[in-house]
Amino acid sequence: EKGTYPHYMLKEMDEQPTVIRKIIQAYEQGEDVTVDADILDALAEADRLYIIAAGTSYHAGLIGKQYFEKIAGIPVEVHISSEFGYNMPLLSKKPLFIFISQSGETADSRQVLVKIKELGYKSLTVTNVQGSTLSREADYTLLLHAGPEIAVASTKAYVAQIAVLAVAAYAVAKQTGVALDFDLKQELAIVANGIQTIIDSKDKMEQIAEDYLKIARNAFFIGRNMDFCVSLEGALKLKEISYIQAEGFAGGELKHGTIALIEEGTPVFALATQKDVALNIRGNVKEVVARGANACIIAMEGMEEEGDCLVLPPVHELLTPLVSVVPLQLISYYAALHRRCDVDKPRNLAKSVTVE
Ligand code: F6R
Repeated sequence: EKGTYPHYMLKEMDEQPTVIRKIIQAYEQGEDVTVDADILDALAEADRLYIIAAGTSYHAGLIGKQYFEKIAGIPVEVHISSEFGYNMPLLSKKPLFIFISQSGETADSRQVLVKIKELGYKSLTVTNVQGSTLSREADYTLLLHAGPEIAVASTKAYVAQIAVLAVAAYAVAKQTGVALDFDLKQELAIVANGIQTIIDSKDKMEQIAEDYLKIARNAFFIGRNMDFCVSLEGALKLKEISYIQAEGFAGGELKHGTIALIEEGTPVFALATQKDVALNIRGNVKEVVARGANACIIAMEGMEEEGDCLVLPPVHELLTPLVSVVPLQLISYYAALHRRCDVDKPRNLAKSVTVE
């Protein structure tokens, strides 16, 4: 029930701090967060993880790759399910397949699961729906604990997917004796508070939507490293609910062609949460501003500069996607509202795509 909320999407975005706290509770074991021993073994035994997903879940998978590689030292490939099924790459000797699917019903992902089972490989489904097809048919399941997601545009499931993937990567790193210099349970609690701070200032996002997107025909989202992954999700959210053509781009790649599209007033949302590339992304912003772009910089506290649009509460560097995506979701929501779009049920889209 959406209760007093005008839209499910707004309610679901608001629930995101609670979802993070629920995940901490669901996966906590004493002072730590972890996953079941059989899943830890399957992850630890794999020589490579293959993440398979579609849409927003694919975007969460891109962040998951960073976690398994940077936290646990396990190589990962991330594939779009509809591509993987008919164009399988060479596989490693001991692959583990991870299916990320909010609904657990996406047909493109299921056809891959059927194929890799025929080949005798093990699989783990990360899903919001217990008893869903992908959960029943895979060897293992990790639940998102996000509660039902009704709005077609996925919001809370995306942050839940990222948080659960972080827990799994962290737990397998501990299991295999990797030295870790942070406490994930604590860091996730900080994230939950950080998301709440952003939610509490949604008026600002409404203003940004008004200032940058009111008359826009197109928009760009740029970032580097994990900010690049999040910019893909920001662009997808804006496209699907406001019908503004949007593209997510790696900051440094823009100048290799696409910068030709920047005109006077083109909105460019730039994320600046990654310390190593803070100067680079600001350089990229200068490049687009020089061509007339209307740039909105969203920076992590401690990295902000005069004139930035929005400053995000600081969180652990690996967990920035969990907070940086939230303003992008809210900006899309308000842009769609201003255009009188059907926010919860955008045209041409279904909540779960059960045809290939
Ligand atoms: C975007 C969106 C879709 C889904 C995609 C996969 O907001 O909702 O891109 O993410 O259809 O769906 P699941 O995660 O159910 O497999």
